[in-house]
Amino acid sequence: MSKLDIAIVGEINLDLILYGLPEQMPTERELLASDFAITLGSSSAILAHNLAALGSRVGFVTKIGNDLFGSLALDRLRERGVNLECVACGPKSGVTLILPHGRERHILTYPGTISELRFEDLDLDYLASARHFHMSSLFLQRELLPHVPELFRHMKSAGLATSLDTNDDPDDLWGSGLDEILPHVDILLPNEREAMRISRAGDVETALSRLAQRVETVVVKMGASGAVAMRDGRRLSAAAVPVAVVDPIGAGDSFDAGFLHQFLRGADIATCLSYGNLCGAFSTTECGGTEAFRNGDRMQEFIRRHDTHRQAR
Ligand SMILES: Nc1ncnc2c1ncn2[C@@H]1O[C@H](COP(=O)(O)OP(=O)(O)O)[C@@H](O)[C@H]1O
Ligand SMILES: [Mg+2]
Repeated sequence: MSKLDIAIVGEINLDLILYGLPEQMPTERELLASDFAITLGSSSAILAHNLAALGSRVGFVTKIGNDLFGSLALDRLRERGVNLECVACGPKSGVTLILPHGRERHILTYPGTISELRFEDLDLDYLASARHFHMSSLFLQRELLPHVPELFRHMKSAGLATSLDTNDDPDDLWGSGLDEILPHVDILLPNEREAMRISRAGDVETALSRLAQRVETVVVKMGASGAVAMRDGRRLSAAAVPVAVVDPIGAGDSFDAGFLHQFLRGADIATCLSYGNLCGAFSTTECGGTEAFRNGDRMQEFIRRHDTHRQAR
């Protein structure tokens, strides 16, 4: 039996969030925040954390600085039991400063090691020891990107199921080998905008059917409208779970966690979709993408209260 259900390759950093700053931010003034949070950020790390919190056996491969922010970020994953034995080390961890002003936010990132993971840093035997392989935030992996088609091809031929959440392309080009990667992807998990950009479609339904011609299972996340999926020519949709949203950071990654947690257990796509919605909604009930999932009792209580597919576990 594999010791890992899933191996995830991707980025990690901390999010530092300063709440209650004034709307105008003049320079040379001392501006006071009303609250402050340090939370585990980065799509890939949020997914690894939340999947492990749900009970999947997760191996996470990333590059992190040998510094305080690096160890704090890894501690958050260790707390959930994520396997970190193949994490690589680089010169300096990245960090993201999030400054909410009412409904708007400044998001300032120093990428550090985020984009520095190289193909040579990966232990392919370790990755292939899992049952499933996943990547998030494809376009942030600047060093690894040219090798990603080869990586997915290798994982498929080693017998793993594969999934990809591209997240946004900061250059908005949507090239970078996607044509060579998608044939080796079993599940594609974009949000609405990303689905339309990847498929060059003007609406979600066209995007869904175009992408379904290239990937076995396509799942499009649609914020407060829930999610739709297409598999074997069948279209399924699932409504979002109504919640009081504190902040939407990491909702898409938490959706991925819920969806993949069920997929790894052999559940049908309808169950995966509704569990994805459940986890996406739960993530919005606290700040950042992982804080909600650090409280196991609250997570179980939320799942019990809202779950409509109880038979799947
Ligand atoms: N306001 C909300 N209310 C309930 N669920 C939400 C809300 N926003 C997001 N979600 C859940 O999180 C999922 C992912 O959110 P979305 O914003 O579409 O992705 P991303 O974060 O990748 O942009 C949605 O499909 C939904 O299940
Ligand atoms: Mg996303």
